[in-house]
Amino acid sequence: MAKVKTTYFCQSCGTQHNKWTGQCGSCNEWNTLVEEKVQKETKNDRLQVFASNKNAKTRNNKSVLLQDVGLQDYPRIAVPGKELTRVLGGGIVPGSLVLFGGEPGIGKSTLMLQLALRLKNLKILYVSGEESEQQIKMRAERIGVTTESCFILQETNTQNIFQQIEEIQPQLVILDSIQTLHTSYVESSPGSVSQVRECAAEFLRFAKETNTPVFMIGHITKEGSLAGPKVLEHMVDTVLQFEGDTNHVYRLLRATKNRFGSTNEMGIYEMNGDGLREVTNPSEILITHREHATSGVAIAATMEGNRPMLIETQALVSSAAYGTPQRSSTGFDLRRLSMLLAVLEKRCGFRLAVKDVFINIAGGIKVEDPGIDLALVCGILSSNEDLPIPQNVCFAGEVGLTGEIRSVNRIEQRISEAQKLGFEKIFISSYNKKGLDLKQFSIEIITVSKMEEVFQKLFA
Ligand code: TYD
Ligand code: MG
Repeated sequence: MAKVKTTYFCQSCGTQHNKWTGQCGSCNEWNTLVEEKVQKETKNDRLQVFASNKNAKTRNNKSVLLQDVGLQDYPRIAVPGKELTRVLGGGIVPGSLVLFGGEPGIGKSTLMLQLALRLKNLKILYVSGEESEQQIKMRAERIGVTTESCFILQETNTQNIFQQIEEIQPQLVILDSIQTLHTSYVESSPGSVSQVRECAAEFLRFAKETNTPVFMIGHITKEGSLAGPKVLEHMVDTVLQFEGDTNHVYRLLRATKNRFGSTNEMGIYEMNGDGLREVTNPSEILITHREHATSGVAIAATMEGNRPMLIETQALVSSAAYGTPQRSSTGFDLRRLSMLLAVLEKRCGFRLAVKDVFINIAGGIKVEDPGIDLALVCGILSSNEDLPIPQNVCFAGEVGLTGEIRSVNRIEQRISEAQKLGFEKIFISSYNKKGLDLKQFSIEIITVSKMEEVFQKLFA
């Protein structure tokens, strides 16, 4: 008879406590400790479950010289679509465990099903604990791709899943989602921290021992009612994050952790009636081509990872109706906006303290690149003075606390992208000029070092 042990898990950070306390000593969150029963399992019968998998390699763990380790044993599995390939760092690594997180309704199941349908030469097992076979079939019909090598399994018990895996011998396993799974070796309910961690650990062992890649979908809820994928991040090789505004069509795929590639890369998708479509030319979509220039609109030449992207920023400055002026921002950090406004007020003498300021980044996209600052500031000034910025102008620069325009990385790529899209002028920091061969560009490059200078050169 297995011994039943009771412990307390923090639902926020996953730390295990022996006693209940009001505050988690690890992450300092209040009222997050939940009692869970953990059954001490007998290790042996668990390992039997997938020991007979044919893909399994018998490992002889001996030390080898690094120079003798061959990479050819691990060719990556090519995935359809450039965006996913790039974010994964060049394809799926055999035996890797990938966590794919995102808010509900963002399109995680759709993207994973699309991957399963398009990988035609691989045997795939798509395990769904959330949807019925019929629902998945309907979704597949909507996506409109047919395949003969994708198995669907509606199951939540991991022991049953491993039995099916043994029968089918899939080359890729997709779990939708990790929070719905449960293992018989732990007694707490599905979605609790210990269940999620234990199920993930089983699949981690399975992935490493059989060299089969596993994708796990994980939920993120604002309330934290489900065990957040944060607990899993240490375990997995790659964490992919799907983000975007569900009211907009664009979705961003980022890798926040990747043992097999860069975390700078980003993929952009568009949610259509027939599934997710890749966006290969984001700049062309994110810029509205207007007949007349409008005040408050400025184009920023930003970088998303290693990819240049031109984004439209919009600002609206109006007299405050109430005593406390409003500042609101969509797609841009509000505190950074306050900082930029303070710089304009203090260093450049613009009276914005009595004005409402609203900022919007087109397409529902969130931008973290500081190179967007200059465009935003120019947009704010343009709206404030009601002077439109010419449509053939774009910006790339960071604004410092003293009002100086600071240099940004990969300036050549930004300039080339702006030139490619037909812009005629680009404002950059004068500190970026060093080592830059201006003659290679046909676009006019205007270098600025201070905010005041930008204003003169732009509206003179
Ligand atoms: P879903 O993949 O179920 O999201 P998640 O698994 O992350 O919760 O998809 C969410 C939304 O996508 C759903 O509300 C409907 C929409 N959708 C489309 O617009 N077009 C499509 O072809 C599909 C399959 C879904
Ligand atoms: Mg789903």
